[in-house]
Amino acid sequence: MISIAIDGPSGAGKSTLAKSLAEKLGYLYVDTGAIYRTIGLYMYEADIDPKDEAAVMAALPNVEIRLSHGEDGLQHMSLNDCDVTEAIRLPHVSMCASAVSAHPGVRAFLLEMQRELARTNNVIMDGRDIGTVVLPDAQVKIFLTASAEARAQRRMKELEQRGTPQPFEEVLQDIQQRDYNDSHRAAAPLKQAEDAVLLDTTELNFAQSEEAILKIIRERTGK
Ligand code: DC
Repeated sequence: MISIAIDGPSGAGKSTLAKSLAEKLGYLYVDTGAIYRTIGLYMYEADIDPKDEAAVMAALPNVEIRLSHGEDGLQHMSLNDCDVTEAIRLPHVSMCASAVSAHPGVRAFLLEMQRELARTNNVIMDGRDIGTVVLPDAQVKIFLTASAEARAQRRMKELEQRGTPQPFEEVLQDIQQRDYNDSHRAAAPLKQAEDAVLLDTTELNFAQSEEAILKIIRERTGK
């Protein structure tokens, strides 16, 4: 099995690129952020403070997460038998996801689920700690980044298209706050794996970014 790990901060284009590359290569696309978002959504709906580690850990046994892939290759998430694919994208869920992802117990709870997917499929998995913790032996590791302003612009467009627009300043602040949370937590913080290739997409459009990643994949796998 071949594993391709794509890590990086929020809004760097990981999901869009990984989804498209998975389709081209015939790999399974795994969006690990969606799994943390599903836990964040549960805590939000249950009125549990996502920062309260003891409360979050006590609630985890009630959280049943299922991940499935439609024929369209899209990853659908279900939470206790309810489809939450759309609901987990709302901005307030992003903050809850970031908060719950800081708890080591939450990360341990999800580790095996992510590894199992890579044992049974060729995967392109995106997240924050895929190359460093989840799949340290991945054949290809890419650390995808872009300036906070470029990422905020992209996220703003995405929110507009979804019909939930937000002002630039708010989106930028949200990104900076999550960058800080994700890279300063003690458990599996966002950081580039030593053997990952760094790709900065600030000045690249989608096609250029995709071509750059394909080149890295070809170099690393000989395919
Ligand atoms: O990629 P995303 O924005 O959908 O991720 C939501 C949150 O989940 C993000 O703030 C950090 C966390 N996350 C993580 O800690 N580890 C991962 N592998 C993926 C996401």
